[in-house]
Amino acid sequence: MTIKIRDLEGPLGCEVLGLDPTRLLTQDELSAVNEAFLRRLVIRFRGAPMTPQQLCNISRQFGELQPHIAKKYRLPDTPEVVLMINQDEQGNFDKVGAERGVGWHSDLAYDWCPAKATLLHAVAIPDRGGNTSFLNAYLAWETMPEDLKRRVDGKLAAFRNGGRLGLNQGITPDAKDRLPDVVHPVIRTHPESGKKAVYANPYHAIAILGMTRADSDALLDELFAWCIQKQFQWDQVWQVGDTIMWENRCAWHSGNLDYPLDQLRKFYRTTIRGTTTVDRAVAEKQLAEAVY
Ligand code: SIN
Repeated sequence: MTIKIRDLEGPLGCEVLGLDPTRLLTQDELSAVNEAFLRRLVIRFRGAPMTPQQLCNISRQFGELQPHIAKKYRLPDTPEVVLMINQDEQGNFDKVGAERGVGWHSDLAYDWCPAKATLLHAVAIPDRGGNTSFLNAYLAWETMPEDLKRRVDGKLAAFRNGGRLGLNQGITPDAKDRLPDVVHPVIRTHPESGKKAVYANPYHAIAILGMTRADSDALLDELFAWCIQKQFQWDQVWQVGDTIMWENRCAWHSGNLDYPLDQLRKFYRTTIRGTTTVDRAVAEKQLAEAVY
């Protein structure tokens, strides 16, 4: 095995050195990375600049790729890869592009089948700021006060791209052709580890089903205030050539707009398909009956 894996300091994160993007991981390497991924939720492959096609090849080793809904950011030759970029084609600052991914969330939680993992590869980064923050949602659950645990466990919530806060404007289609709301548990059991993690997130959760909107808003506010504490977080300070693979089933992440906005920030990104969280037919019925 030519790669080296070490845990990073903090509540999540692991680093892989020695990745060769021109070849696939061997079976031993893949098993070791998968073990580290399940245990530490975020993997950083450092010092391995790669092409979009190489990113696709490596990503596919972790599951089926799920093309992103934002078609305008897909790369023509490798449509499974989308650009995350803060400038338009003329090199001007693009607010919509820059704000994508800013705000705590997990990917595709607005879909009935949300993402397992996402890979983000740094092509250009600003000279300061623009870290990506991650949060261990297992830890947020495990350390949660019993009273709050009791009020959120077993509940289902409606999810939508942009959430209660109407975030992601410009990417989210107009209300008339917006994707229908979907349902996920507020506290989700991870399909591989069997452990619980907080799944409802500020960017996507609209309302807890079976509660008045006011009660649901108050409970979500309390839940999110608990989750976003610093002790659950770790920040990725980017270097060009880094690729981060993150968990979407038990971790949240957020971009940060705290860098000089006249500097280019550009990434290639792939998404790995996950599994459904609820019985869709039952949940659709509950959603249709819910008032929120
Ligand atoms: C994302 O949420 O995909 C992007 C995070 C970032 O831009 O740092």
